[in-house]
This record gives sequence, C-alpha cells and structure tokens, in this order.
Amino acid sequence: MFPVRKLPVAHVARLRYRYCASSQATSGSHQKLSIFRFNARNFHSCVFDARNIEVDIPSDTVTITWNNDLVGYGEEHTTTLNIAALQSMKESGYTPGSQSDNFPAQVMWSKKALNLPDYPYEQYMEDDSVLYQLVKQLRTDGLAFVTNVPGLRESLAKIATRIGPVKDTFYGHTWDVRTVPEAINAAYTSHDLGFHTDLLYFHQPPHVQLLHCVQSASSGGASVFADAYKAVVDLYHADKEAFNTLATVPVNYHYTHPESNVYHTTKPVIDLCSLRIGNVIYTRFQDYLKAMKSHSPSGISDEWEISLLVKCLQKVNWGPPFFAPFSNHDGLLPASDDGSGQSALSALNDKADQWHHAACKFNALLQRPEYLYERKMDPGDCVLFDNTRTLHSRRAFDMADVGKPRWLRGTYVDKDPYLSKLRVLQAKFE
Ligand SMILES: [Fe+2]
Repeated sequence: MFPVRKLPVAHVARLRYRYCASSQATSGSHQKLSIFRFNARNFHSCVFDARNIEVDIPSDTVTITWNNDLVGYGEEHTTTLNIAALQSMKESGYTPGSQSDNFPAQVMWSKKALNLPDYPYEQYMEDDSVLYQLVKQLRTDGLAFVTNVPGLRESLAKIATRIGPVKDTFYGHTWDVRTVPEAINAAYTSHDLGFHTDLLYFHQPPHVQLLHCVQSASSGGASVFADAYKAVVDLYHADKEAFNTLATVPVNYHYTHPESNVYHTTKPVIDLCSLRIGNVIYTRFQDYLKAMKSHSPSGISDEWEISLLVKCLQKVNWGPPFFAPFSNHDGLLPASDDGSGQSALSALNDKADQWHHAACKFNALLQRPEYLYERKMDPGDCVLFDNTRTLHSRRAFDMADVGKPRWLRGTYVDKDPYLSKLRVLQAKFE
C-alpha cells in the first residue's frame, strides 16, 4: 500500500488526467489540486481546482470533485484515480492513458528460413484469437498468409476489414494486377519487378498490403519478399556513412500522369522517428545513441543498440520505379551562395553521387538470396505484409503463357486502424 501521506496528488499538466506529484493529501482533506484541461471554450483559463479529495484505502483509490468543472458536468461529477497509477506516474513521468504501446519486438529475418504458419480463411474470419496471431505476426515478422480464400471478388475486402477499413486510392477500393501488353505501370508487365514499397509518392503510404491470388501463372511469377529493416541494420553495421546518407538525404518520389493523377513526396529512404531526448532533437542516429549512452553510466550493449535502432525505424521508403530527379532541397538559402563556395549544380551532383553510392550498398543487402522469402502463391492464397518494412517483388514469368496469366487482387489498410486493432486484440488476449 502506498503511504497515504505521500499520495502524489496532482498539480499541473495539460490534459484532463495528466498529473505531476507536487503535494500531499490526507483522507478527506480539501487540499488544493490544480489541473489544466483543454477545452475549446475556456482554453485561456483551463485551470481546474479540486473541491474535495477523498482517499479510499480499501479500494486504493482517490476520488476528486472539482470547482469549475468542464462544461456539461454537474456538481455530482467525480474523478476516481488509482493510487498505484498515481505513484507510477510520479516515478515514470508518464500520465494515465499516455503510456506508450507495449507491442512485441520486431524480429529481423535471418538466414534461417522463416517458419510462418498459414491462417485458414474460415478460422481467420471467425476466431479473434486467430486474427490476433496474424496481426501480431505482421508486427513481429512483417508477413503472413491466409489460405483457402474463396475465389470471390469480395473475399479480399473481407480479409482486410477484419483489421480495419480498406484504404481507397486512385487504383480503386481493390485493384487487379494482371499481365496486359503496353501497360503504364511496371506492376502490369511480365518482367522481374524490383523490391519496392507501394505508393511511396503518398505522404502516408499504406501500412498493410494484401494480395489475393486469383489465378497463378503456369511458370514463374513467384512472389518474393525482403526484410528492409534487416538490410538497414546490416547497413548500419557495415557502413555508417551510407546509413547516415540514406537516413538524412531527402529523396523525391512521384507518380505523374498529368491527365489524371499527379502525386509527389520527398523523404529519406530510411525514415527514423524523431530522435529526441528532452528538448534536444538529433539528426544523426549515432549522436542520439551517444547522448543515450551518456545517460546510462553502466553502458549500453550492442544488442540494446540494435534494438534501439529498430525501435527508431518508422518505415523504409524504397522504390526505384518511383524515384524522381534529385534536387537540392536548399530552397531557403540565398541562390548565390550555400556557404561552401560550390555551385548549386556541383553540390547537387556531389549529393546525388553520395546517395547513389549508399543506395547501391543498401540494394545489395536487400538482394541477398539467403535472406529472402519466396513463395509461388496458389489460387486461394492471400498474402498480408507490412508495406513499410517488407519489400515485395515477383519473379518474371512467361508472357507466352497467355491462356493463364498471373492475376492478383490487392488492397491496403492504413497504419492507424492496424495499430488500433493490435491494441484492442492485445488487451483482449494478453
Ligand atoms: Fe507493388
């Protein structure tokens, strides 16, 4: 039991249930408790004071009534908080409801063959525990297969909406990938496609991609997948400058069909989260790591360093078919002088060379056969993968095989609904 006299009653913060320890309260006291609450109508004066604080030892809770409560709440309104949660908040600085997610760690692919279970369609559709296993596997391994999918147009959307709403795009609610002559999109040809992320030219590419095999080619056309996170980790070990280049140099991506769709974005290949400690934001991962180490006198192991890097990975933006011409991204500098004495064109060429060198190293790591997962999908198979981590490609197949072309039907689910489903199922089953 937490000593009542040390109850960390809240002081100031900026959301309804954010508190920081500042004073003490005893059972039944009328001690002042101040809390900021955001409210559109009283934003400028959103300080709320406790009218009464009741501590209930048997239930280990504290119940608060407020002066000047939020609009819509009457005199009888109370707020009940768990004392253990308040104590935890005092020690961690995290406030109730703001704890970060506790998702399982992402597991890098290795030379050992991936041993992933298949998920039969009926079980996946009817059993939430099966759905959870698949959703969790998308987090840990970035790849999963549903089998025995009915050959109906609606089957794919049914699989997707078990996770979340389908992400509609200009390709449609669902879309078909088939061999057609003179196609405008690389995916619609019969050549060997390179590894790529879909919809890189969107600011928020879809998180989960689903591909339902409606019809397979007689020869070739196998689907191939690569773990881009594993390639990033290995690039970090092999060549930190190349890693830094891909993590910091902005790259242009585009989809330009002026009569119908013009999309473009700019972002680095290796997309890291904000490398922040307190109010300091670091540009390079090594500087962030160094600062982290300075906060850990006992030292940081190599294993911890890699797990930190993986935690910082937001996504990998890799798609040579969608790269647009390089640019300097120094638009705010005076045109005449960037401080280096170099001409703008010369600086651009140097940056492009540096990036190309790093990109070639990354591409070589992606292509290592011993790290790939290859599977010739049969009709009724549906693959789901993390579009921002697991890069996809397919082997070439025979265009002469015109009577039975490979035919996949695809769709997407965004990251927010995917994470929401993971949280919901985690709470239900863990
Ligand atoms: Fe694709």
